[in-house]
Amino acid sequence: MGISLGLVGLGSFGGAFAPLFHSHPLVDRIAFCDLEPERVRKFSEDPFYQSKFHKGDEYLSLDEICGAKLDALVMITQPWLHAPQCIQAMEAGMHVYSAVPISSVPDGDEILGWCDRIVETSRRTGRQYMLGETTYYHPQAQFCRRMAAEDAFGDFVYAEGEYFHDVDAGCNLRQVSRSRSMGAAGQEWKVNSAQYRERGVLTGPMHYPTHSTSGPVCVMNAHALKVTAYGWRNRTSDPHFASYSHSNEFALFQMSNGATVRIAETREAAGRMGKDSETFRVMGTLGTFSEDVWHTATRPADLGNIQYDNLPKPTSRTLTRGEMFTPLPPEVEFAFMKAMHRGVDEAELQNRDFNPTGHGGSHPYLVHEFCEAVAENRTPAINAWEAARYMAMGVMAHKSAQRDGERLNVPDWGDAPQ
Ligand SMILES: NC(=O)c1ccc[n+]([C@@H]2O[C@H](COP(=O)([O-])OP(=O)(O)OC[C@H]3O[C@@H](n4cnc5c(N)ncnc54)[C@H](O)[C@@H]3O)[C@@H](O)[C@H]2O)c1
Repeated sequence: MGISLGLVGLGSFGGAFAPLFHSHPLVDRIAFCDLEPERVRKFSEDPFYQSKFHKGDEYLSLDEICGAKLDALVMITQPWLHAPQCIQAMEAGMHVYSAVPISSVPDGDEILGWCDRIVETSRRTGRQYMLGETTYYHPQAQFCRRMAAEDAFGDFVYAEGEYFHDVDAGCNLRQVSRSRSMGAAGQEWKVNSAQYRERGVLTGPMHYPTHSTSGPVCVMNAHALKVTAYGWRNRTSDPHFASYSHSNEFALFQMSNGATVRIAETREAAGRMGKDSETFRVMGTLGTFSEDVWHTATRPADLGNIQYDNLPKPTSRTLTRGEMFTPLPPEVEFAFMKAMHRGVDEAELQNRDFNPTGHGGSHPYLVHEFCEAVAENRTPAINAWEAARYMAMGVMAHKSAQRDGERLNVPDWGDAPQ
């Protein structure tokens, strides 16, 4: 028997994941939930979903779907709602997948409190928590984790992670924030968010830090110890930044493995630096990854009686996307291909290559990892402990920026229990 999943939050991002969760071979029942009835109907009435959708599996609130007997819930709701909703689902006995980040509210201490409670609830209930961090399954991150597992980086020295997303860029943040504040959940947030401003509690881009922090952390398998950060304050009275102390923030971390990490989060800066707006680079004594190029020094790890003057020349190799991805099981790839190319003949699909899409090709990998972790009741790769590391770095960086670079400790919840 396969697993049963409830999709909670069927807005623009949740809707993009529905076909993948539905088509995963391990899933045999799918339920739909949103506060907005027309968003539920869009899926429950679509013939594509009927093979795994049972009449009655439509829900108009989290309370309702928490009463259904499902194995897991996938929460793709607004970012300020994730933590309490995931805790409610785990307490109701279900595994959870959460859109990023663990929580994004203006108060950093409140976010750290949610990290604490997410870790504690997952540990106590034995329910799995997985963060849907897209960077984790970018091909670059998959390749780097393989190199790290082979010790090909040597000792980690330095890494950079960045998320350059100008407010007026392609995915326009003014429109995103308008659309997320429509509907019942959005209206409620208008009232709640005003209370932070009244208390003088202001947010910053480091409260949405997981796209930049996750790359260095997941490749080096290390956590942050200390941070010093600085910020840029909006100078134009742009209403979008009314609840922000800084519109751009930059942080330097001392890591548990001795490496240094630089993280940049910009929302008011044109374009990007380098090839991608959402990326990371990692430097080691023997291997360095940057902009899809793998550089190696040819010093052996054990220098012994080596003749330094006779060492072979260092190498640099540009990698293709295909080389960086780790393939998914063939039956999973084929099921996803059918979902992505509805109406195309199966025989024709057999002759096509699988081309992972969605945020660097990460979406199919996230879905597969969660479905497999639920089916096997095993700890997912991006578990509560890992997710808390990505989040705490941002929270403490924002605090440091607000205190003009004061050096602060970064809390850590340890590794996930095996
Ligand atoms: N690269 C990435 O990882 C990435 C990209 C885009 C969005 N996201 C994340 O995805 C999330 C959703 O973004 P979106 O743009 O789709 O938002 P959205 O506002 O379009 O959709 C959220 C939906 O959740 C529903 N909802 C809220 N509370 C609910 C409840 N109690 N019960 C049932 N439904 C509820 C809302 O009604 C809404 O339809 C955000 O948290 C965002 O951070 C991540």
